[in-house]
Amino acid sequence: MSSDITCLHRKCFQTFGGELIPDFDPCLLHLLLLAVLFVNSSSHPIQSAALCKMFQSIKRQAYMLMNFPKKLHDLTDDELINLVALGNRLDSLPNIQHTAAQLSSLTLNESLSQLYEHTQSFKLHADWLKTAKENVSLPSHSAEGISVHLLQLSNLIKASLHQINEEVPQLPSPSLPVVSTAFDVLRFSAEISEQLKVFCMWSIRVLNVQRKSHCSRH
Ligand SMILES: *[C@@H]1O[C@H](CO)[C@@H](O)[C@H](O)[C@H]1NC(C)=O
Ligand SMILES: *[C@@H]1O[C@H](CO)[C@@H](O)[C@H](O)[C@H]1NC(C)=O
Repeated sequence: MSSDITCLHRKCFQTFGGELIPDFDPCLLHLLLLAVLFVNSSSHPIQSAALCKMFQSIKRQAYMLMNFPKKLHDLTDDELINLVALGNRLDSLPNIQHTAAQLSSLTLNESLSQLYEHTQSFKLHADWLKTAKENVSLPSHSAEGISVHLLQLSNLIKASLHQINEEVPQLPSPSLPVVSTAFDVLRFSAEISEQLKVFCMWSIRVLNVQRKSHCSRH
């Protein structure tokens, strides 16, 4: 049943299906207004300004992270294409699903859980790559920088998960190969940097979808 409350010249009326009922009891009116407010807010349970602010920070961090993959290697575009064409070898890297339908079907808790899992996984890979680079005496500060950013990102997502009372997912450690040549390190750098770009784009899209459905008033 649709019911509206209309106030004219300080007098309030309630309309039921177009019919006007005048001289509505003001106390009852307040109760009704409260009920309307309550119904509205419970259909958007996560209208939390803090959470929406957090979304902004996560998105900002994802944008910042997007500048890093290029720095992970000194390859030209052609060299990168050739290396990537050799195929993927890190099965443990997140396999990111990003069709529009998949994105919009994710709930808030699923989105944040997946964001967290992927961030953690990339962080473990960045740490591993850092060691691999050190082992073959290649500069490792870019991998380290990525790891630091991913840690910040994962802390933000963890805080958001806490805010919606969702458990923080625990990730099993991936089994990563021992790397013995500089060429292998380059190849893995290329693979991680390409996947990291996909991840950043995906994160931003996921956050946009969630912001649209939960932060419409912000
Ligand atoms: C997300 O929350 C819904 C209910 O709100 C629940 O059914 C579902 O299992 C949760 N998903 C995850 C990944 O926690
Ligand atoms: C780096 O070297 C250490 C010591 O030799 C080895 O244990 C480790 O597995 C190597 N890391 C990678 C990623 O190859």
